[in-house]
Amino acid sequence: MRYTDENMEQSILILGRQPALGIAEAESLFGAAQVQPISEHAALVSLPHADVHFARLGGSIKLCKLLTILDTTNWGQIERYLVKVSPEHASYLPEGKVQIGISAYGFSESTPRILATGLSIKKALRKVGKSVRLTPNQEPALNSAQVLHNHLTGPTGWELVIIKDDSNEAGKTIIAQTVNVQDIDGYTLRDRGRPKRDARVGMLPPKLAQIITNLAVADAKPSAKTTILDPFCGTGVVLQEAMLMGYSVYGTDLENRMIDYSKANLEWLPTEFKLTNTSFSLDQGDATSFAWQPAPDVVACETYLGKPFTSTPDGATLAQTTTDCNLIIKKFLRNIANQTKPGTRFCIAIPAWQIRAGEFKHLPLIDSLEDLGYNRVSFEHAKSEDLLYYREDQIVARELVVLTRK
Ligand SMILES: C[S@@+](CC[C@H](N)C(=O)[O-])C[C@H]1O[C@@H](n2cnc3c(N)ncnc32)[C@H](O)[C@@H]1O
Repeated sequence: MRYTDENMEQSILILGRQPALGIAEAESLFGAAQVQPISEHAALVSLPHADVHFARLGGSIKLCKLLTILDTTNWGQIERYLVKVSPEHASYLPEGKVQIGISAYGFSESTPRILATGLSIKKALRKVGKSVRLTPNQEPALNSAQVLHNHLTGPTGWELVIIKDDSNEAGKTIIAQTVNVQDIDGYTLRDRGRPKRDARVGMLPPKLAQIITNLAVADAKPSAKTTILDPFCGTGVVLQEAMLMGYSVYGTDLENRMIDYSKANLEWLPTEFKLTNTSFSLDQGDATSFAWQPAPDVVACETYLGKPFTSTPDGATLAQTTTDCNLIIKKFLRNIANQTKPGTRFCIAIPAWQIRAGEFKHLPLIDSLEDLGYNRVSFEHAKSEDLLYYREDQIVARELVVLTRK
């Protein structure tokens, strides 16, 4: 790993449930050279934390500022170091009760052991006259709700994040401090609080819509001059997340009802959230033949995913669904290839079916992207085959495919 000199402020992202998605998202926004995976839990970003627009990242759960790097992964030594330096660090905090918390990533130490370290730090701070409350660990790492509810990112809050470095510089431990944590209430409002939802078209989680958008735009500076098209917009979750980031959006869908739903949802958005740009365009249209006006700058969507399965389908049913989805998405890609400029970037979420635990049936079109007029974008720090979003018990996964028009 390349840790830069100490003057350069660096940030740490604590990755979500599917780390490859968070890594690819960060690489897409900040560039491969600025991002370095540290372990399956975290990535280093060579940018000051103030320059990382954390709220738009769907694949990371915490943003931390790098404090120091220790040349050990021995927990006893790490604890001694933290107990020694904490009083001085705490002296910079404003007056009042200090809220502390400890999160360990990648260590085999038990939760009580981590908690004991927290208690030792608390004792050290008390000795220098600080009044301290420790958030008790239920697991080695505190979850987002604990960090938020105990105000650990507030002015007198202090979550110490301790990450074992599993990259090529193993043997080191990163000590960081959380400066931001995912807005769980905001995500819930953007998901369940929208006026129109539809279980039949599936529920795209806003976090995944953010990841899809970020993989598509590949630019950390949003601009209302960039129009993002979702040609399968459904109830408009991708459009919503892209609008919240500050992009202009254009949605189309085969069903008029979906256009009405997207309209109601996008009109609701400024009543709940601050938006710089409240305008959007919507049209009813079949993505396999529609002519989009104007041509989009970027395409981000969750395509048709076929039938929703709650149990593994029989071979014939799965074969039919695969053929149906493949045909629609292939026709869509052919149609839009003729309407977009070379270099136009896409992120499309297409279906893949979990036929056995962790084993997937993919759409055949994955192997003919070149013939359809596209180059598949690969990532330095994430494998394309890991860009799959699913829960363990889900049959239909979303495979995120990032493309550029040839
Ligand atoms: C999986 S849903 C997308 C849901 C969407 N992400 C949302 O936020 O609600 C797929 C959508 O594609 C639409 N669709 C299916 N075939 C289509 C086609 N040929 N052209 C355009 N839209 C299509 C469906 O009406 C449905 O709304």
